[in-house]
Amino acid sequence: MKLFIDSADIQEIQEAKEMGVLDGVTTNPSLVAKTGRSFDEVAREIVELVDGPVSLEVIATDYEGMIREADELMKYGDNVVIKIPLILEGLKATKTLADRGIKVNNTLCFSPMQALLSAKAGAAYVSPFVGRLDDISHDGMELIESIVEIYANYMFETEVLVASVRNPIHLLDSARIGADVATIPFNVINQMMKHPLTDIGLAKFLEDAKKVPQGG
Ligand code: G3P
Repeated sequence: MKLFIDSADIQEIQEAKEMGVLDGVTTNPSLVAKTGRSFDEVAREIVELVDGPVSLEVIATDYEGMIREADELMKYGDNVVIKIPLILEGLKATKTLADRGIKVNNTLCFSPMQALLSAKAGAAYVSPFVGRLDDISHDGMELIESIVEIYANYMFETEVLVASVRNPIHLLDSARIGADVATIPFNVINQMMKHPLTDIGLAKFLEDAKKVPQGG
């Protein structure tokens, strides 16, 4: 299972990279806005810092605009993945870009049928938003199960990228279902590592280590 960080904050991305488990980055306009920095500055730094795929999202909502923006975004580096919303114009743009060999991440996926169309258009990744479905009393993980099942039935190569992750249970469920990738906010990466018994156990080991007689 690949782990991406869902962030546009360079410090967070740097820290996640240092943990040694970072496979890529996803951003969106809301995450970039949160940094208070220009898109250009943020995109340049992330692409340079990270070896793996970096999803940068288009703002245009029409086909021509999306293609134009994708061409601009690709200039940031070879590891750029174009993030395109799952609307009709986005589907057309996905097909065109995929045919040109450009990797697309279809975002804002909320149904298995949107995911089916995404795969048929040739997206490299589809991003189902589990947390936002949970927020409206739908079961976000059911969507992941359906997409993984459908993609396996037809051997689609599009990778299921679990997004809108809010807690470690989302990751546990994603891993058990066999999702290809999860993109995780920085605070949830830290939550994954934490276990009170690890901390208590370590404190005890260190305390006992002091009782071990010194010398050769
Ligand atoms: O990158 C898109 C997605 O992960 C957003 O998450 O928490 O804003 O629903 P959230």
